[in-house]
Amino acid sequence: MTSEIGLIGLGTMGAALALNIAEKGFDIAVWNRTTQVTRDFHADAGDLAAKITPTDSLGDLVAAIKQPRAIILMVPAGEAVDAQIEALRPLLGPDDLIIDAGNANFHDTNRRARESTGPIMGIGVSGGEEGARHGPSIMGGGKREYWDRVSHILMAISAKYEGTPCATWMGEEGAGHFVKAVHNGIEYADMQMIAEVYGILRDGMGYGAPAIADVFDRWNNGPLRSYLVEISGKVAGTTDAATGKPLLDVIVDAAGQKGTGRWTVIEAQHLAAPIPAIEAAVVARNLSSQRDARAAGEALFGPAPRAMADGTLSIEALEQAMIGGKILCYAQGFAMISAASDAFGWALPLPEIAQVWREGCIIRSDMLNDMASALSDDPGRNLMFAPYFAEHLKNCHEALRQVVAQAALHGLPAPALGSGLTYFDAMRTHRGTANMIQGQRDYFGWHGFARLDDGTTGQHGPWAQ
Ligand code: 6PG
Repeated sequence: MTSEIGLIGLGTMGAALALNIAEKGFDIAVWNRTTQVTRDFHADAGDLAAKITPTDSLGDLVAAIKQPRAIILMVPAGEAVDAQIEALRPLLGPDDLIIDAGNANFHDTNRRARESTGPIMGIGVSGGEEGARHGPSIMGGGKREYWDRVSHILMAISAKYEGTPCATWMGEEGAGHFVKAVHNGIEYADMQMIAEVYGILRDGMGYGAPAIADVFDRWNNGPLRSYLVEISGKVAGTTDAATGKPLLDVIVDAAGQKGTGRWTVIEAQHLAAPIPAIEAAVVARNLSSQRDARAAGEALFGPAPRAMADGTLSIEALEQAMIGGKILCYAQGFAMISAASDAFGWALPLPEIAQVWREGCIIRSDMLNDMASALSDDPGRNLMFAPYFAEHLKNCHEALRQVVAQAALHGLPAPALGSGLTYFDAMRTHRGTANMIQGQRDYFGWHGFARLDDGTTGQHGPWAQ
């Protein structure tokens, strides 16, 4: 009974997290369903092996941890988590804490918190294997007292932004997993916008992958500096050992997904929170997997014109469009978090969310620091109206418009950038067009409308019998 914490599930992420915990000086007991995996993990742990207690059974794991215990689950989201909790709980004391650190659907985390017979938390962990090993971004959810019990460990293993740990308690029940889902939705949109610009460079402007790598590398030294732009440059700059071609040119153009982006979009619809850039990114992934249909479409309709005349778009215009698209995407994501906070009674800390995303996670970027400042000034204000970002948008929305328009004219799909622009235009249009929808609704369903001139509601048109 010497370990300060336990961990179940030594897959890629679990193993990396366990080594990170050991490296930060905490004794940790580990268990994996397959004993050989536990043995191999311990044998390969090098100097850190001394801090790690490998165990062969759940009972041994529980016995190896100091009371009240804390045990991290790193098992695949869904039924495996429920099964693991069911197996583990009878072995635990009433104060022992289970921490689900997988990519759970926050509704499951809510349910588990309500049904659980003992302490349980759900934490979102971002940063892939590298992050888990050397410092992820951590979004905690569950009772505050549970967070307080383990926060010293979670903060120690988390990424640091200028010394500040990127680990925060977000709120009760599934709040941490909810914030992680929105993170992933934004991750999808960031990736999609980069892919759209890549497509314009490749098919519209005739750039080869190495030249595209140079563009992304340059952007990574400017306002777009971020992990995803950085790795996009690296991906574009890599050569395939087998063929000598750019690796990007031999990768199948069908994107996978584990579902977190889709959950975000579904939830946004429940909340009536508009996140069109994220929705467009999920749709684009779905469309990407329909390769046969796309091939049939190209054969039937012919390929789009694609190639742009020289000087149609500049690299600077593309960069400005990306800046605009990114601001608008994050404005949507944070507005959704704000809507969820109200709907679920969570008081989600928006500035702190931007802060914990500044390092460690997949969407980390310089811009998140400015977002954290803008949200600190006024957490309830849409980011696109914060003076700093409004100024940026004033400067770059014309470039975004040019890029989206030229992409459309040349048949190059740019749905995330396009929906960002549509969001911008909708959000700066006082007199919209939904008066027509209200007229239609009243015409066919007697639903009533409000009058603009005198403010009266429940009005009807003369079309009714
Ligand atoms: C992270 C990532 C990670 C996610 C992968 C794959 O923050 O570290 O979001 O949690 O699982 O990026 O996600 P998809 O398979 O859905 O692309």
